Amino acid sequence: MESTEVSFSHLRWQIEAGANEAVGEQPRNRYQETTMGRPPPSDPELPLAPEEAAPKRAASAETASARSLADAAKNLDELREALALYEGCPLKGAARLVFADGNPQARVMLIGEAPGAEEDRQGLPFVGPSGKLLDRMLTAIGLDRGSVYITNVLFWRPPGNRQPTPAEISSCLPFVERHIELVDPEILVLLGGPAAKTLMARNEGIMKLRGKWFEYESRGMSRPCPAIATFHPAYLLRSPIQKRTAWADFLAIQAKLRQGR
Ligand code: URA
Repeated sequence: MESTEVSFSHLRWQIEAGANEAVGEQPRNRYQETTMGRPPPSDPELPLAPEEAAPKRAASAETASARSLADAAKNLDELREALALYEGCPLKGAARLVFADGNPQARVMLIGEAPGAEEDRQGLPFVGPSGKLLDRMLTAIGLDRGSVYITNVLFWRPPGNRQPTPAEISSCLPFVERHIELVDPEILVLLGGPAAKTLMARNEGIMKLRGKWFEYESRGMSRPCPAIATFHPAYLLRSPIQKRTAWADFLAIQAKLRQGR
């Protein structure tokens, strides 16, 4: 393949994944960065490197301060305010805090990875290309933004949509856990590897984790919540062949909802 064809296909791939704006003053050779040991963007098919292991639930002193801030929040407005004041996440330089969208009374809470460019602009999760696909997948099982609640494991966009680091995820985790406690959903849906391994506290990739129910629990919950992981919609845009498998996961979610609590 000609190198211009390679560049165009790489560019197209980035646009489909939601990276629709250039960052930085100077052009960067991202192929070279990758070969020089910089991690490539999240790919559900890649096995996890040891340094990508699931962030520990409740780790450092920094996490302890995040936890006391998060635990003090008695409702979602207070949690959002606490996050706005929180300085412990290295991603805080993003344009906007992307907190949540949808219905806080919903039976289903979906948790993705991190805001992309469009989410950073609008301050809402899943409003870019992968959000459009997510909306279609939800419609297919009779749900929409009025009947689900959507957030991410990170509340700020990583620069250039790069893969979030375990430290960044850990710094937000107490807020994510409190978020789940306050919404108290009937079902939790984890979109993609970072959300799945963080909240399941497991090191396997999404290929292994998806499609199985497990019980999510945290200290402040009155009862465990059934949770299921599935592919991230950005991955499905790149690998449409996996939509069939994701459809099976969505049917499992629909069946669980019909079954009731
Ligand atoms: N991808 C995510 O994981 N979350 C968003 O909000 C947008 C894209």
